[in-house]
Amino acid sequence: MKKLTVAIDGPAGAGKSSVAKLVASQLHYLYIDTGAMYRAVAWLTGEKGIAADDEAAIRQLTDTMQIRMQAAAQGCRIWINEREVTEEIRSPEVSARVSAIAALPAVRYKLVQLQRQLAQPGGVILDGRDIGTVVLPHADIKFFLTASVQARARRRFLEMQEKGMPTTLAQVEENIASRDYQDSHREHSPLRQAPDAVFIDNSEWNLQETAGYIQRYIEEKQG
Ligand code: DC
Repeated sequence: MKKLTVAIDGPAGAGKSSVAKLVASQLHYLYIDTGAMYRAVAWLTGEKGIAADDEAAIRQLTDTMQIRMQAAAQGCRIWINEREVTEEIRSPEVSARVSAIAALPAVRYKLVQLQRQLAQPGGVILDGRDIGTVVLPHADIKFFLTASVQARARRRFLEMQEKGMPTTLAQVEENIASRDYQDSHREHSPLRQAPDAVFIDNSEWNLQETAGYIQRYIEEKQG
């Protein structure tokens, strides 16, 4: 049985990370959350008081930063410069800042190298925006997972409520719509579907249905 490289791309809140996590654990694959890496850099710039458009300062930061990831039951734990930021990177402040940081070529260049290194052994599922188009154009299987803005906002809102994070549905919907726009209109590696990706709209599916579909697809390819 061949261990494959699997790319899952799509907009915020489509359920990529929950699905990838679940399928990876079922198939004993490694799950790599690339959005967490962009979030960690966004967190670090906030921590250091660097403006999101100060490219020179951010380039300097990315030249020296160390990012470490570790698989965990709940997904990926992540450290930046030896500080664990697994929880902090989910805050509304980081969510609001991350698209601007992810648009910077210096940040993307550095993180794409790291993502390719992590994917190299195979048996991996990476989720993000540019995995099938830029990071792993030769991935064995590519999925493009999406859902309506309303469906995605509702899911993210419930998730945040469960964690006790103060927010409203309208706020979450606005954040998602604005990130969709920024992520798909940026100059470098915008969010788009790879021509050879399997398109899935899961507005009407729950997590288990989406994960089941993806898992069966991978299993068939694996032989
Ligand atoms: O998937 P997420 O919401 O955690 O992603 C956070 C941000 O990082 C999002 O605005 C898009 C960006 N991102 C990216 O540009 N490329 C990736 N491969 C993953 C995430």
